[in-house]
Amino acid sequence: MVLAGRSFALRYLLPLAGLLALPSCFTNKGHQGERLYGQHCASCHGEQGQGIGQLVPPLAGSDYLAQHSASLACIVRQGLKGPIVVNGVSYNQLMLGVQDTTSHRHLSPAQITNLLNYIETHWGNHPGPAGARTIAGTEAELQACGER
Ligand code: HEC
Repeated sequence: MVLAGRSFALRYLLPLAGLLALPSCFTNKGHQGERLYGQHCASCHGEQGQGIGQLVPPLAGSDYLAQHSASLACIVRQGLKGPIVVNGVSYNQLMLGVQDTTSHRHLSPAQITNLLNYIETHWGNHPGPAGARTIAGTEAELQACGER
């Protein structure tokens, strides 16, 4: 009986557990994007991407974000400075390139991909013309601005 119970577990329950673990593997990417946003962007751009008055432009519903979807990976890496207009409001501030505060390393292409997919599917934002970002797409964007 014990043996039968065990092989039942091996034959049916373990694979089932594997299947159940699968979806969490996918949603985890969304969670990583959300977590990275909280760690690296929310202090300036706000929990809901609302920005800070005239100092930090919003990411929520930002026309700049929508129009520059091919440069976002480079903005995360290299930052942004100089005059820009976001939703009709002028900003002339400095954003430094984002690094991981503990490792002092750049965010990886995979991390940037998850982060931008999170931003582009929240607060009224939409994915760029190419749809959801892929790591290969992010790598190509980074290469275009001299990053790897
Ligand atoms: C220390 C504050 C700060 C942090 C942290 C920060 N930003 Fe920014 N960000 C700014 C400022 C200030 C500007 C405006 C720069 C200018 O005037 O040229 C900006 C501009 C932008 C823009 C273009 C304008 C817009 O609102 O659409 C994007 C996109 C952006 N940031 C994304 C991010 C992302 C993603 C992160 C996290 C990885 C991040 N920023 C982290 C301060 C910050």
